[in-house]
Amino acid sequence: MDEKYLIEQAYKAREAAYTPYSGFQVGAALLTKTGKLYLGCNIENAAFGPTNCAERTAFFKAVSEGEREFEGIAIVGGKAGERIGEMCAPCGVCRQVMHEFCNPETFYIILEDGNGGYRKYLLKELLPFGFGPENLKSNAPQES
Ligand code: THU
Repeated sequence: MDEKYLIEQAYKAREAAYTPYSGFQVGAALLTKTGKLYLGCNIENAAFGPTNCAERTAFFKAVSEGEREFEGIAIVGGKAGERIGEMCAPCGVCRQVMHEFCNPETFYIILEDGNGGYRKYLLKELLPFGFGPENLKSNAPQES
């Protein structure tokens, strides 16, 4: 899928951001391996802790619909009512959620800079040496 289109969809997702506390609005467009798109925005909470980032909203929507294989994600973020001036990098918790479902060698993360420019990273670049499902598999020698 076209990278510019993914970014456009992330902007569309951002329109629904619920951010009465920070005013920082983020949108994410998550692409599955079969070409389906799931949009997510950040959803804040008066108790602060339950706040959900845009990226996780997109992932949880997709996973709850049965999706397990992902290609990439586009993310845009910035203060409401202001021009976006820089890339919005995913937080550590969202990187960890990505690592649960995505191949760090191939899953890409597109960050737009607010001026039509963007950078594309692989998950392994943003979360090197991540802890994932593989780490929970036993590596003890099997008894014969
Ligand atoms: N936020 C996201 O949605 N994604 C990110 O990658 C960074 C932070 C949200 C959480 C909170 O609603 C607001 O931005 C300020 O941290």
